[in-house]
Amino acid sequence: MMVEHERFENFLESIPDGLPEHLAELEIQSIKENVPIIRKGSQHLIRFMLELKKPLNILEVGTATGFSSLFMLEFLDKKAKITTIEKMEERALKAKENFKRFDENRQITLIKGDAIEILDEFVSKGNSYDFIFMDAAKGQYINFFENIKELLLPQGILITDNMLQEGRLLDSRYTVVRRDRTIHARMREYVNVLLKDKDFETMLLEVGDGMAVSIKK
Ligand SMILES: C[S@@+](CC[C@H](N)C(=O)[O-])C[C@H]1O[C@@H](n2cnc3c(N)ncnc32)[C@H](O)[C@@H]1O
Repeated sequence: MMVEHERFENFLESIPDGLPEHLAELEIQSIKENVPIIRKGSQHLIRFMLELKKPLNILEVGTATGFSSLFMLEFLDKKAKITTIEKMEERALKAKENFKRFDENRQITLIKGDAIEILDEFVSKGNSYDFIFMDAAKGQYINFFENIKELLLPQGILITDNMLQEGRLLDSRYTVVRRDRTIHARMREYVNVLLKDKDFETMLLEVGDGMAVSIKK
């Protein structure tokens, strides 16, 4: 099945997707510099969901160097705003540069810091979003969840990336090497919490590295 999945991803990679030049370049540059960015399959799902939902207030957890924010911008209304959080100084600096160059209407706001604290702040300020993209440290999703739930408006969409951990999520914990066990357990917990939460309807998809699409009821 993994082979089929890989073949599918390779197939998607081979289809010209009409990304504007600056994004295509940023994508190549990120891959070269080992900056982890959303894969093609994830890109397809995100653009589809943006067209469907037409959100106006987007929150992203995990900016890296800004590829996914700038990618989302392509499918958003000019009135829409993106707030994106990154904790690594170097990546945040690069993202800032990229936004300066490519976000002409200044729709993206970059917040540098640890999402664990920033999300608390956002909740206490009463912020709300109609679309949230979670793409940060996989082991922390479970810790972000209560705040994310609070910040998402009813009918809002939550997309979580890297659910499959390159297939490891499906492995039994006994076959997972010791150093990966904590993250494996946390991700399993996140999947359970998300799927059982009565305030959400969630679908787990084998797209990219596994994505969960959740709608807040
Ligand atoms: C997979 S990358 C994000 C890729 C980006 N969304 C894209 O597709 O272009 C995950 C990023 O989340 C950041 N990150 C991890 N934990 C974080 C936290 N607690 N708060 C803020 N950023 C975090 C990492 O530094 C990393 O740059």
